[in-house]
Amino acid sequence: MIHRPRRLRRSALLREAVAQTRLHRSRLIMPHFVREGGGADTPVEAMPGVARHSVARLVEQVGADRELGLASVLLFGVTERKDTRGSAATAADGLVARAVAGLRERFGDELVIMTDVCLCGATDHGHCGVLRDGRVLNDETLPLLSAMAVAHARAGADVVAPSDMMDGRVAAIRAALDGAGCSDTAILSYSSKFASAFYGPFRAAADSAPKQGDRKSYQLDPRNRREALRESLLDEQEGADMLMVKPALSYLDVIADVRAHTLLPLAAYNVSGEYSMVKAAAAQGWVDEARLVPEILTSMARAGADLIISYHARDVAREGWVA
Ligand code: PBG
Repeated sequence: MIHRPRRLRRSALLREAVAQTRLHRSRLIMPHFVREGGGADTPVEAMPGVARHSVARLVEQVGADRELGLASVLLFGVTERKDTRGSAATAADGLVARAVAGLRERFGDELVIMTDVCLCGATDHGHCGVLRDGRVLNDETLPLLSAMAVAHARAGADVVAPSDMMDGRVAAIRAALDGAGCSDTAILSYSSKFASAFYGPFRAAADSAPKQGDRKSYQLDPRNRREALRESLLDEQEGADMLMVKPALSYLDVIADVRAHTLLPLAAYNVSGEYSMVKAAAAQGWVDEARLVPEILTSMARAGADLIISYHARDVAREGWVA
């Protein structure tokens, strides 16, 4: 026999030497929910290990995570102050802006701060843009997203991450940031974001589910692989600094497609429902979480993701499931 691929699998050290894909904690981004007020954390029922934090508790938690080598965060605001245009989210001194300022003050440049830019957590109808006669209006939404991005950037965010899926929002946000003197703030676009059932636990955590209808008129149809690539390439043309595929695990083909067509860094979002499924099965003893989680995250890296946004990040770093 000439071909014996098993030769290179003989020992752990040899397997380590020829391993093609490696996870590293510097590539992991930990998502956080920040809420108004003080007091103890409020757990998210469907996401064991995840909670909504006050700004003060967020700063503490991020400090603990940094000790584990987690240097990047992605922030989501959870607010009860909702109106038709999501003004709580776009205000210059809004919740996320205050959280960013608090983190920046405490950690300086020793933390990469990213913020989600979207209206759904602050609109009373739960949609990601301005709603009129049952329709989400594209161009009317752009100035609101831009204001939100500028508020986060002025507070000290390194990266703003629009997740709304309005057309032209990357160009609009880039122009607004530059106009506000924030030309160094980067944009991580949720460029290929699908209308997915995997966001269920997040929407419960952020109280951001649409009260009526769904997000199919703006988020991508899961059947459309070509269109997903097109969306990412359009966002690159509009000036995105990094691209994203979301969800990740059911969309590894899309990650591979985008990776093959862009020179930009690419992020994969291992979303709430993906996390909840693993946690639920692990709690029953049906799967081995310590092996499953690294395998899942490795598949995203192998498909071509540079960065991975994952609620598992803390467990992974604490348990030493990555370098
Ligand atoms: C806001 C937003 C959502 C997620 C991230 N940003 C929810 C949605 O689009 O409905 C989902 C993240 C997750 O499920 O972990 N638009």
